[in-house]
Amino acid sequence: MIYLNGDFLPIEEARVPVLDRGFIFGDGVYEVIPVYSHKPFRLAEHLLRLQHSLDGIRLQNPHSDEEWGSLVEQIIASNDGDDQYLYLHVTRGVARRDHAFPKGVIPTVFIMSNPLLAPPRELLATGVAAITADDNRWLRCDIKAISLLPNVLLRQMAIDAGAMETILLRDGFMTEGAASNIFLAKDGVLLAPPKNHLMLPGITYDVVLELAAAEKIPCEVREVSEYELRTAQELLLTSSTREIMPVTRLDGKPVGEGKPGAMFARLYRLYQSYKQ
Ligand code: PDD
Repeated sequence: MIYLNGDFLPIEEARVPVLDRGFIFGDGVYEVIPVYSHKPFRLAEHLLRLQHSLDGIRLQNPHSDEEWGSLVEQIIASNDGDDQYLYLHVTRGVARRDHAFPKGVIPTVFIMSNPLLAPPRELLATGVAAITADDNRWLRCDIKAISLLPNVLLRQMAIDAGAMETILLRDGFMTEGAASNIFLAKDGVLLAPPKNHLMLPGITYDVVLELAAAEKIPCEVREVSEYELRTAQELLLTSSTREIMPVTRLDGKPVGEGKPGAMFARLYRLYQSYKQ
């Protein structure tokens, strides 16, 4: 079952009018929330980021946190699988096509669940390949906007090159992946770019930094140059659907020794025990 504007129904029966501003303008925001053993992971943090995204596009939050919590609970209960990921989507609603905000329109609210498949063991053992590209997105990458065309094109570049992710560079510095955050490790130090308008403030990113701090792993949160990216001993990719994965090839060259390293092994273990 999915949730759409007050109703729970099978996805095949869900309909949105073509004049929805999400369809016409990509005028909306979203969240992706992992569910482990039927429990939403870091729900409060996801709802806080949803509020930040809604504020960023000047759209009033259609629900209180309690209402969101109840909707999320009902969706989890009405779908099979202990582990799921929820896709939660709010658009500015249905109105005659005009760029300016319509008046008195009700936002469209949509929630669906999909199975959450852990990254395959083989990939965790070998690591994945990434390529680099210029970050040609807008300057509000902190908003989790549904208008994802640049991310779609950038991620497809990776797929076309036989890689999993595209790591983005802006003005000589790394920002993030097309659909993930990126960490580096060098000489036992975990390095991450700071949260700002140039990247999505990842919930998994926060979890990784918290776990590292609790384990007294030295961390530096600061701008990461392209040179540092290319000379890192390890690269890690994080997202709600991919958890933590090792990146072992960058633009066709091995990262460090070309296999998952000690920092990945440690953080992966910590994340696995924390998420339960
Ligand atoms: N994307 N940066 C971008 C551009 C992303 O799209 C994502 C996640 C992240 C990681 O954020 P988090 O740890 O909160 O998932 C960073 C989701 C999974 C998606 O669009 O499907």
